[in-house]
Amino acid sequence: AHSLRESLFVVNQYAAEYFQDILYNNIDGQRIGMTYLRGRGFRDDIIKKFQLGYSTDSHDALAKATIQKGYKADYLVKTGLCYRKDDGSLRDRFWGRVIFPVHTLSGKVVAFGGRVLNAATKNVQMKYVNSPESEIYHKSRELYGIYFAKQAIVRQDRCFLVEGYTDVISMHQSGIENVVASSGTALTAEQIRMIHRFTNNITVLYDGDGAGIKASIRGIDMLLEEGMNVKVCLLPDGDDPDSFARKHNATDYQAYINGHEVDFIRFKTDLLMEEAGKDPIKRASLISSIVKSISVIPDAIVRSVYIRECSQMLQMEEKILVEATAKLIEQAR
Ligand code: CTP
Ligand code: MN
Ligand code: MN
Ligand code: MN
Ligand code: MN
Repeated sequence: AHSLRESLFVVNQYAAEYFQDILYNNIDGQRIGMTYLRGRGFRDDIIKKFQLGYSTDSHDALAKATIQKGYKADYLVKTGLCYRKDDGSLRDRFWGRVIFPVHTLSGKVVAFGGRVLNAATKNVQMKYVNSPESEIYHKSRELYGIYFAKQAIVRQDRCFLVEGYTDVISMHQSGIENVVASSGTALTAEQIRMIHRFTNNITVLYDGDGAGIKASIRGIDMLLEEGMNVKVCLLPDGDDPDSFARKHNATDYQAYINGHEVDFIRFKTDLLMEEAGKDPIKRASLISSIVKSISVIPDAIVRSVYIRECSQMLQMEEKILVEATAKLIEQAR
């Protein structure tokens, strides 16, 4: 007999195959879903590798197919693939969307993301619908793409962190496979530890417009806290990791990153200095924010290297930064 958790994974696997079957063999799957995916520039082999799928506009097609196969309705509800309407009937959560299965580290389908295709509907509904938390799915513990990335992360001894599903897929397509996405939310300690199992080195890729950088800064302090070497790479204005990948092959992409990635502490110092200008209050708060980032780094030698560097950037006496850092470390004890 299966445990409940195993059963939920089995149903998810069935659903992933179902959505793929629709994409490849249903007329709307081909006409709408496949046309959309190819239209974005995804190659057939990549669409297959990431097990992308499609769900038609029917509101209960998956529910019907799954029940007919003999699976319990209860499992559909517990995975979040379906929910119950007031009258007790089942309704599919994902319909009229392209489907991105989310895999665990070991490759089991643990959740789904579904994207609307029609840009015009963007305002009336969410661009993405995602599986809810469940007995098997805890969003904070999963990383999109990790199953497909782990070997490359070890090989390259580096992990790229991007924002979304399509960024991961496009980078794979251009030949960069050591990439995972936090799926639009701040990184968690669990996700960071998962990456840390494979490498100490992480490079965060940001959109050229810089939006989201500030929101991510807290998440990055957590990477430092884990003792990881963190770099940041800004893409050209107007590009995100997905669009950039469609314009550049792996060699050019790597060359761009190698030429543009900067150490996170440096990046943060630059960014904050630019923002603060000559305003003394803002300068003081930027200095404490940088000291805070440095103070979470576990290795004392690494800390002192950064303190030296920042004292030069900020044109401040090293001693002051050393003392401020020591004080924070003391407080955190
Ligand atoms: N996301 C989400 N729900 C939303 C918007 C975003 O779950 N309503 C998550 C998805 O995992 C998405 C990521 O946040 O991949 C990044 O969001 P966004 O940049 O808006 O989407 P893209 O991945 O760039 O998708 P696309 O290129 O198709 O617009
Ligand atoms: Mn975005
Ligand atoms: Mn995006
Ligand atoms: Mn380590
Ligand atoms: Mn995008």
